[in-house]
Amino acid sequence: MTRQDELASSREGLLRYGEDTPTRDSFDNYSSSSELDLHELEPLEDTTSPRPRGGWSPKKKKKSKKGKEKEGPQPIKPKRRGGWCRTRNCVIVGTILTGGLLTLLPMAFWLVPGKGSGITSPPVYPSPKGGTLSQWEQSYEKAAAMVGKMSLIEKVNITTGTGWAQDLCVGNTAPAYNVGFPPLCLQDGPLGIRFADHATAWPAGITVGATWNKDLMYKRGRGLGLEHRLKGVNVWLGPSMGPLGRMPGGGRNWEGFGPDPVLQGIAAALTIKGVQDEGVIATAKHYIANEQEHFRQAWEWILPNAISSNIDDRTMHEIYLWPFADSVRAGVGSVMCSYNMVNNSYACGNSKLMNGILKDELGFQGFVQSDWLAQRSGVASSLAGLDMTMPGDGLVWQDGNSLWGSKLTEGVLNGSVPMDRVNDMATRVVAAWYQFGQDDQAKWPALPKGGPNFSSFSKNKVDKIHPYSDDDTTAVVNHFKDVQGEGDRFHGRLAQQIAAEGTVLVKNVDNILPLDPKGGLVPRNLRRDGKYRVGVFGEDAGSNPEGNNICPDRSCNVGTLASGWGSGAVDFPFLVPPVEALESTFDLTAVEITKSLTNDLSTNWPDVHGQQDLCLVLINSDAGEGYLSWNGVTDRTDLHPQKDGDTLVKRVQDNCAQTIVVVHAVGPVILERWIELPNIKAVLLANLPGEESGNALADVLFGRVDASGRLPYTVGKSLKDYGPGGQVMTKPNGPSPQQNFDEGLFIDYRYFDKHNIKPRYEFGFGLSYTTFTISKLNITTLKPKSPLPSPRLDQSLMPPAYPTTIPDPSSAVFPAGLRRLKGRIYPYLNSAAIREDTSHYPDGWDNHSHLSPAGGGEGGNPSLYDEHALVAVSVTNTGIRPGKQVVQVYVSFHETTDVSTGKMIDFPVRVLRGFEKVELRAGDTKTVETRLTRKDLSYWSVGRQNWVMPDGEVTVSVGSSSRDLPLSGVY
Ligand code: NOJ
Repeated sequence: MTRQDELASSREGLLRYGEDTPTRDSFDNYSSSSELDLHELEPLEDTTSPRPRGGWSPKKKKKSKKGKEKEGPQPIKPKRRGGWCRTRNCVIVGTILTGGLLTLLPMAFWLVPGKGSGITSPPVYPSPKGGTLSQWEQSYEKAAAMVGKMSLIEKVNITTGTGWAQDLCVGNTAPAYNVGFPPLCLQDGPLGIRFADHATAWPAGITVGATWNKDLMYKRGRGLGLEHRLKGVNVWLGPSMGPLGRMPGGGRNWEGFGPDPVLQGIAAALTIKGVQDEGVIATAKHYIANEQEHFRQAWEWILPNAISSNIDDRTMHEIYLWPFADSVRAGVGSVMCSYNMVNNSYACGNSKLMNGILKDELGFQGFVQSDWLAQRSGVASSLAGLDMTMPGDGLVWQDGNSLWGSKLTEGVLNGSVPMDRVNDMATRVVAAWYQFGQDDQAKWPALPKGGPNFSSFSKNKVDKIHPYSDDDTTAVVNHFKDVQGEGDRFHGRLAQQIAAEGTVLVKNVDNILPLDPKGGLVPRNLRRDGKYRVGVFGEDAGSNPEGNNICPDRSCNVGTLASGWGSGAVDFPFLVPPVEALESTFDLTAVEITKSLTNDLSTNWPDVHGQQDLCLVLINSDAGEGYLSWNGVTDRTDLHPQKDGDTLVKRVQDNCAQTIVVVHAVGPVILERWIELPNIKAVLLANLPGEESGNALADVLFGRVDASGRLPYTVGKSLKDYGPGGQVMTKPNGPSPQQNFDEGLFIDYRYFDKHNIKPRYEFGFGLSYTTFTISKLNITTLKPKSPLPSPRLDQSLMPPAYPTTIPDPSSAVFPAGLRRLKGRIYPYLNSAAIREDTSHYPDGWDNHSHLSPAGGGEGGNPSLYDEHALVAVSVTNTGIRPGKQVVQVYVSFHETTDVSTGKMIDFPVRVLRGFEKVELRAGDTKTVETRLTRKDLSYWSVGRQNWVMPDGEVTVSVGSSSRDLPLSGVY
């Protein structure tokens, strides 16, 4: 599609805040107006902020043992329960005392210093510079030329956000106009453009994972990228791959692609490729181990500290880091560090994570940005490898006190932050901007023409240009630009295909599906009133009567569920409810539809609703980000359908011999209360389908497409089946809650397999409308085994070098005559009086940690990605319909000892290492190939600090789910 095509397909409209969302067609009726346009204003001078209270005094980092990483979590002592108070008086006095204690206890939480589990994260310094890898060479050359001309003030400007709601996007940086670097707009989120109008509400990540379709993963990325670019977004805050899904109830799991690192990694990488091929910088988030919402950040859950995810080194590498490694390998431009602590050091101040793993071992060349207020220290976070603070606010929202901004300027001037570090921070930002062609004026016109053409903080056409400030200047902030494409290029078509392929058919007795639009199953002469009677039940089949976007960031579960809630949600331009698609697909001359779009069973049941020939019942389960909750849910603490969906299903099936259940959900749902009841004939797990929900569902129900989704997670028989590690911690075990990832590698199917627990439906499972055989496994050795990857190459490129002279403080003083806006973050100082102060360097700063042998390229040592085995199978469609099969390749390592410690290594029974989705007409056969890399065939050796290919045979199994693997061979 050319730029002209894109522009030709965009229209402007006047969607006002509070109005019901127009349908797709009604967009045509909107027109633009000629009022003052933001883009006609002069670019904003970049400006200043009041000097923050107190000096530049970042908190001293907690002492940690230099260079020593404690492996494996520490046990937490169970609390003792008393049994000594047996008399009545004792009970009364006890109750009073307990009441008092309970009142005081929360206060004590503030007073008691944070006590960790003893697990710490080792220091890794200094921060590796960007510009060492050939893939980024030209961008770094250009960036070096630009940054070389920047003043310190400009470097601070482009690495510090301007403050929450100071400008139009959820994150905004200030410009360096003198050298031609624009302000950047950073915007959520993983399934579309948050707070925007006329943009696609795509299926959520979990649905994309369920497609197992690489082509669709990439294409959705392209669509997301194009829409963000056309709305003027420079940096897309997605995809999400952390949470990975350690706990099936984790509130934000649905933003990512499922709890298997390989599926998650492939989906993330292809999404990133798609987005960045459109020139938008993607953000791999949240780095790392932000696995639950409870206690994810300080103060949000009352506690003064965030939870610490305590993870051993091997688990980190083989599970949680894997998708981030794939993202870096795909060339991701930005990584967002997360709210939580990892091994008792905040992720955004954790030098092991940012300097050590991300920048050294994975060779990340882009910039690390903080999650919103996830930065908890000033100097320390910069030295630990943070490159950009978002949204610029410091420890508190919107008080104008950043941890960087003027404090970063001061930190450089007083010697706390080396000039070198701030140069690298700025260079990484500018290099990412060049890397994705954002200097191309045709695609990224400068202000006044370019920049964001929507406001995150108003639905009005004309409104404040600095939404949260005392500046009342207004302009056109919403251009209502339609970026959804048109005709064949209407993005809804692709969204519909993804939602359909992300729908998993798990039960289909007697091939009741696909349905016949005319009713089919009952001969005409046997039909009452000559019509086939279909009942549609459940609130989830219909719309929210108050409008699709009525709840902030979708934080309510009303009507059909098409997305979870939080910053990963969007305003839907339209939402096709399932009932509407059913009504338009069934032939109403032959079929009579009775609707009961409620979960309330109180009235007229079963007289009106009983005696249907076929019943469709729709139920759901929702969750979302921790700053919001619905009905007490953020993380799900049980996996049952919400709104008493189980009772509804049972009631329908009690009265209907042919019942089909559809579940819309953020993740696995327990189906046990009804799955085996005799009238439950078919079950579809439709995940979170996005705007085209009903159309996609009808595509599958009526067989316009094959049922080709496969589970991206395990559906257990109970939440307990997922093991202790699968439970969300809802009660803090201290002021700084300690969550020990004791289960190590054994999450989701790996846990079920290890403990021989039979799931209801296993990871990778899903039925088709046709049948397939997979045969003729052939494993060809492309490269022989050898324990270690090639030695790390010397850095082939030198990072940019700049003079490190500290500028004259007078150059950083707030310019006279410049107006300070309330709450805005500025890079300037109030006075040029600076006292030298280098006392805040963290422990280990002079450590000069060694380069990781696992590093040397984007995503790690390039030889980790050498292909060692070619796995080929034949797939035949043995049925009578066309269909799609997902060929899944799993690897099982045999018992062996670690090369360095000599200790036995515990391996999962099997791990997914590759997959391909293949389309076949009835009777056709195709050869499907997957290639296994050195990394696929290795484990992370803590002793060697490298990926090691174990001696002996590795079993390669191929089939159609994690428990249906008819073929196996060895490498
Ligand atoms: C916090 C969320 O965790 C993150 O995913 C999002 O990008 C930012 N807020 C900005 O909205």
